[in-house]
Amino acid sequence: MFDFDTSISRAGTHAEKYTLRRRLFGREDIIPFWVADMEFAVAPAIRKALSSRVQHPVYGYTGVSETLLDAIKFWNSKRYGLSFKEEAVTIVPGVMSGVSAAVFALSEPGESIVVQSPLYPPLMHTVHKTGRRLVENQLIVRDGNYQINFEKLEQLFKAHQPRILLLCSPHNPVGRVWNREELVRLIELVKCYQGYLVSDEIHADIIFASHRHIPALAVDKEANSRIIVLNSASKSFNVAGLNTAYAIIPDKKVRIGFQQQLRGMNLHGANLLGLVALEAAYTKGEEWLNELLRYLQANRQYMADRLNAELPALEHFFPDGTYLYWLNFNTLGLSPEIIKEKLINEARVGLNDGVTFSRANQGFWRFNFGVPRSMLEKGLTRIIRAFSHS
Ligand SMILES: Cc1ncc(COP(=O)(O)O)c(C=O)c1O
Repeated sequence: MFDFDTSISRAGTHAEKYTLRRRLFGREDIIPFWVADMEFAVAPAIRKALSSRVQHPVYGYTGVSETLLDAIKFWNSKRYGLSFKEEAVTIVPGVMSGVSAAVFALSEPGESIVVQSPLYPPLMHTVHKTGRRLVENQLIVRDGNYQINFEKLEQLFKAHQPRILLLCSPHNPVGRVWNREELVRLIELVKCYQGYLVSDEIHADIIFASHRHIPALAVDKEANSRIIVLNSASKSFNVAGLNTAYAIIPDKKVRIGFQQQLRGMNLHGANLLGLVALEAAYTKGEEWLNELLRYLQANRQYMADRLNAELPALEHFFPDGTYLYWLNFNTLGLSPEIIKEKLINEARVGLNDGVTFSRANQGFWRFNFGVPRSMLEKGLTRIIRAFSHS
């Protein structure tokens, strides 16, 4: 019923994925599979709500309405079985601004924050740039799948007593959807060391068959006073350019601290169109999202099948969720420099370099498959050709 097949030109729309190609890859003729937004038209219901708001000729300062808070509660309850009071919600200009506010509210300069890497780079940059100490616990590959190294994590907690466990759930870039058992163990550690869990759940809606997103706030009620969840419609409904996200913070004291930080940075205002899009997404977008998930799931399968058949030596990590595919080109026996050269100058595709997610991940690249099938086909064909006789 919805169209995910048509290619849409983003020329002249300030799309970062396209405008930064020359600067990042040194050439314009790159097919971009990097920035985590999708090449699909936004759900008709959201476009309609936006156009109708734009028709009203006054775009003044905007407040958060009851209907928006209801929409956020409705979505969280329907999709993930999570309920909370409306005062737990704070609107923020982005998940990353929320992460910064959480870091400022819950820790002091010089204190440690632990993450699982490889990881979405801005999460690690936030730790560095706020003067906190980054403690990296490398994920490990077991049975072809990324797992949390709990033994190492326990040692790191003991050694560094981190104030915050900064979690990416589901995990960008490896596409893991953390299960209940893993979340329970993480939260146990946070409780035991009296720290806090800041859970970036921006990819929560993009989950594939047999997996289920469990919000950090739905694991252990007793621990909820130590948890901040950040979420938004920006990934799943492709509205990242509207700069709107929200935090869920059940504990009053933690929430006040978080809001004070936002005020200190003057980041407490809301984006008018972002709020309209968020409310429309959560009240009228579910059918579109369900269809999107079927399309993405088919893309994921298509990608796995072609790589298995035509580039079998390439190690790839079939994601449980997210539209991001983590590829290990090192298994082709080439140096990281040659891999990069081939991707950019032979295949002419733009992926995210694994080394930006962790120093240990040279030769890995992240591929965004939130694109029409024809674009995916073209990109994969170019990659397969470039690496087939290497
Ligand atoms: C894990 C994760 N967190 C946060 C963001 C960015 O969120 P925002 O644009 O709302 O700051 C992204 C975008 O790719 C992401 O993948």
